[in-house]
Amino acid sequence: TEIASRIAAIIEELKDLEGPLLPILHGIQEEFGHVPQAALPVIADGLNLSRAEVHGVVTFYHDFRAQPAGRHVLKLCQAEACQSMGSEAVAAKVKQLLGIDFHETARDGSVTLEPVYCLGLCACSPSAMLDGEVIGRLDDEKIEEIVAEVRS
Ligand code: FES
Repeated sequence: TEIASRIAAIIEELKDLEGPLLPILHGIQEEFGHVPQAALPVIADGLNLSRAEVHGVVTFYHDFRAQPAGRHVLKLCQAEACQSMGSEAVAAKVKQLLGIDFHETARDGSVTLEPVYCLGLCACSPSAMLDGEVIGRLDDEKIEEIVAEVRS
């Protein structure tokens, strides 16, 4: 299939790097928006690893998605500075409003929710990133705006 040959091309290009697994996984995620399940055995064969090893790495690094992301990707900062400014309560509220947990995508495909560890916006914590744009000083009003936006 075409997907298999694109995956094979990425592996071919990167397999001679030292520690090629992470660059290959990143390359595949860049190309497809996620790491398809079907890629794992191909990578394992290409690098002489077991499927379990490849699967272990994919699940260990939360950067990798097993499923395509939603139309929007909302990342909530959960690192220290934001935590001290209530990021856990923000996350609880967002999860409740969207009906999903971290690393999940809403059933209608509207939004994927992910934690992130420092957006460099500590002075305006608690902070978030929506589709690549940072948002600081999250409060109830901003949370509701964000939720309305991803739902629209
Ligand atoms: Fe959240 Fe730095 S800790 S932006």
